[in-house]
Amino acid sequence: MIAPLIDIQHLSVRFDTDEGSFHAVDDVSFSIGRGESVGLVGESGCGKSVTALGITRLIPSPPGHISSGRILFDNMDLLLQKPAVLRQVRGAAISMIFQEPLSALSPLHRIGRQMVEGIRFHRDVSNKEAWAYAREWLSKVGLPDAEERMYAYPFQLSGGMQQRIMIAMALMLSPSLVIADEPTTALDVTTQAQIFSLIREMKQNDTSLLLITHDMGVVWEMCDRVSVMYASRIVESGSRQDVFNRPAHPYTTGLLAAIPRLSVDKTRLQAIPGQVPSPFDYPRGCHFQDRCEHVFDVCRENTPELRSVGEGHFAACFLYRGEDARNA
Ligand SMILES: Nc1ncnc2c1ncn2[C@@H]1O[C@H](COP(=O)(O)OP(=O)(O)OP(=O)(O)O)[C@@H](O)[C@H]1O
Ligand SMILES: [Mg+2]
Repeated sequence: MIAPLIDIQHLSVRFDTDEGSFHAVDDVSFSIGRGESVGLVGESGCGKSVTALGITRLIPSPPGHISSGRILFDNMDLLLQKPAVLRQVRGAAISMIFQEPLSALSPLHRIGRQMVEGIRFHRDVSNKEAWAYAREWLSKVGLPDAEERMYAYPFQLSGGMQQRIMIAMALMLSPSLVIADEPTTALDVTTQAQIFSLIREMKQNDTSLLLITHDMGVVWEMCDRVSVMYASRIVESGSRQDVFNRPAHPYTTGLLAAIPRLSVDKTRLQAIPGQVPSPFDYPRGCHFQDRCEHVFDVCRENTPELRSVGEGHFAACFLYRGEDARNA
């Protein structure tokens, strides 16, 4: 088997806040192959963004810290690297598109200068070459009057424009992995389509993608595989076809049934009853137990691990573990 481009193993991220401590990400494992696109989905607060920040070592600390795990990227464990190495990796080998564009742009510098600095930090090119390259990328992401925008400060631009600039900065250095966290939420439908076609183009050049989104339609269009997160853990992983057509975990089944576009019978469209528990009181055992129609006693005691439920298809659920495991 070919080694994946990135292999996240047992990643846990803990926050220690004034209100208490909790795991925002608990024992999360998944990998992404070269040229592969993986979608990470799940309800608000389940830990998708914190997973992305963990991979790139950008967890705000305090209050957060990575409490365990390994992140193997191109044969190095990112969790063991020094800040200088991480700075080289970020932006060039791994780039990020955040939910909030202003978190990636410096308010103090003009767009052109930020882009040129980004390019010259990683590439041996002249100022003039970097400027022309940056301008070309602003046009590629559909920013009108690119040359003029290069002289603007971020606050002078609309949210949609800032988002496009951040996307240009993330894609312009041909990274081997793009982590996109709700990349197009702030954009109109036409621009969204434009950005996704740019990302798809990159995929053909063997760029891998971790796409975080609430939009299952986007996952279906863009991703080869999907991991579903619920309350800090991955509950199901598999190919797009398996997860959408043969969902195994009761949470995934509920998630899909709650989506109008995917539900064939609209009269049966239903939200999952109950509420996501607060991270301060995630229950012992399976985090989905109080909302699950199948719940067994064992689900309240033991944490189900991800186990194979088919070729390349995994679920963390005692439904698939047989009588013996359930009665153990
Ligand atoms: N800096 C922080 N300090 C304290 N808690 C945090 C911090 N960042 C995230 N959290 C908490 O960690 C949990 C996971 O948050 P995260 O942002 O990863 O959710 P998400 O799945 O990305 O949600 P959304 O879909 O709304 O973006 C949440 O309970 C959130 O409140
Ligand atoms: Mg998020």
